Order: sequence, then structure tokens, then C-alpha cells
Amino acid sequence: MPAPASPLPAAPTGEVVIRTLAMPAVANANGDIFGGWLLSQMDLGGAILARNTALSRVTTVAIDGMSFLNPVNVGDTVSCYASLISIGRTSMKISVEAWVHHYANKVEQRVTAGLFTYVAIDDSGRPHPVKR
Ligand SMILES: CC(C)(COP(=O)(O)OP(=O)(O)OC[C@H]1O[C@@H](n2cnc3c(N)ncnc32)[C@H](O)[C@@H]1OP(=O)(O)O)[C@@H](O)C(=O)NCCC(=O)NCCS
Repeated sequence: MPAPASPLPAAPTGEVVIRTLAMPAVANANGDIFGGWLLSQMDLGGAILARNTALSRVTTVAIDGMSFLNPVNVGDTVSCYASLISIGRTSMKISVEAWVHHYANKVEQRVTAGLFTYVAIDDSGRPHPVKR
């Protein structure tokens, strides 16, 4: 018998890095929000924390372990929360969670989370050590 799914967290972890409205222009054929748009918001949000950590340009090198738990509807407020998990020599692992809430209620619901890896880069796009 499969292990019971772990309960969804009741509150976000990390700092708010992006807060925006899900607009009709980014809906998919079902009328829900396109997952690729949500992923890009999360990537941008994680990059903001990575840049503030490294104090340099950064680029995304990997995204691990994402699953979409609930749909995002047009008109929902989408918030991305980011937390720094670890710093390597040139890389940073940042956990990013996406939460939504509908304007009619105050309940925030997690829709997805992922582990993003960013690399600090110099002006030529080459990795360079993260300043500590
Ligand atoms: C990111 C990039 C600069 C790294 O260059 P590289 O020559 O592979 O550099 P390195 O092998 O020294 O790796 C740099 C760091 O990234 C980490 N890394 C590389 N590939 C990784 C992967 N698939 N997953 C996790 N970490 C990875 C390395 O472990 C290393 O971390 P550390 O310095 O903290 O130990 C280069 O791969 C690149 O430009 N990729 C394209 C990035 C991009 O365009 N992103 C947007 C996609 S649209």
C-alpha cells in the first residue's frame, strides 16, 4: 500500500519575491493558467533572491522536482516565495514555492514548488565564486 501523501503546508516558506495577477493572456486551452508561465514567474523570483545573494548576474542551471498540485485560475493572485537552501562555490540552491489566492477569500493555497539552482556569472557568462 502506498505511503499516505504528506499534508500540504498551511503557510508559505521563504520571502515574497514576486506577487502578480494571473491574466487571461497566459491561460491555456482549458481556461486555467499555463504551467510554463507559472514556472517562469518562479524562475524570475528565485533569480531575484540569487542575485541579491551573489551580488552579481546569475543564470539558471537546473530546476528539480516540480509537480503542479492545484490549478491557477485567471484572476488569482500568484505569490512566489523563495528561500536559500545552500551555497556552493559558484552555485546557489533556492527553493521556490508558488501560492495563489482568489480575491473573494483570504485562503492562500500552494500550487507548486521546485528547487532551482542558479550560478553566479561574470560579464562574459562564466561562473564565478559567490561572494560571501
Ligand atoms: C550555468 C553555466 C554558466 C555553468 O557553466 P559550466 O561550465 O557548466 O560550469 P561548472 O561546471 O563549473 O558548474 C558551475 C556550477 O554549477 C553547478 N551545476 C552545473 N550543472 C548543474 C546541474 N545540472 N544541476 C545542478 N548544479 C549544476 C556545478 O555543480 C557548479 O556548482 P559549484 O561551483 O557551486 O560547485 C553554463 O552551463 C550555462 O551557461 N548554461 C546555460 C544557462 C542558461 O542559459 N540558463 C537559462 C536557460 S533558458
